[in-house]
Amino acid sequence: MTNVLIVSGHPRLGDDSLANKTIVEELTSLIPGAVVDQLDDLYPDYRIDVAAEQAKLAAADVIVLQYPLWWYGWPSLLQKWVEDVFVRGFSHGSTGTALAGKKLVVSVTTGAGESYYSAQPGGFDRFLAPAMATCALTGMEFAGSLPLFGVSYANRTDEAARADMVERSREHAARLAKFVSAL
Ligand SMILES: Cc1cc2nc3c(=O)[nH]c(=O)nc-3n(C[C@H](O)[C@H](O)[C@H](O)COP(=O)(O)O)c2cc1C
Repeated sequence: MTNVLIVSGHPRLGDDSLANKTIVEELTSLIPGAVVDQLDDLYPDYRIDVAAEQAKLAAADVIVLQYPLWWYGWPSLLQKWVEDVFVRGFSHGSTGTALAGKKLVVSVTTGAGESYYSAQPGGFDRFLAPAMATCALTGMEFAGSLPLFGVSYANRTDEAARADMVERSREHAARLAKFVSAL
């Protein structure tokens, strides 16, 4: 059996998310047995339980990072999780091999649309550089990225736009679950 860990890095999934909340909810039923690591729920004070997080990572075969793109990178809560948990001797360094061979999938939502990112030099992949470099350092395999573009928080008060975002988030979750099951 493949053990899947879904790390939800939205800092306010519980009360200020539409896309990530929908995706995480859908994934819990689409990937039965997956461990959902909802960081905002576990660590509202940003004080990460390093041993607990390392144990969850060690038990996983596939790690899905689910987060909204904030200022072109990981939100601070997910950044803090990486900084605290991926330490020398665990994830890297001569004795740090706990993550080697695991597969990493990046599922990221954005406010801007696909056309905005395809017009950028290097396209959307440039915003995945930290995840890819982290895989190279730790021996994880970068298994792929699934962006969901154009789900801006700015449109949430428009009922039709909101319904469309929920629907596209559901479809995204289904695509992601299919992708993970094929790994
Ligand atoms: C602090 C902040 C920074 C953001 N930075 C970006 C960004 O750099 N690029 C982008 O396309 N969208 C950006 N957005 C929009 C979010 O990515 C978008 O609202 C989110 O993916 C929607 O997911 P949610 O409904 O789960 O919050 C930002 C939003 C916030 C609140």
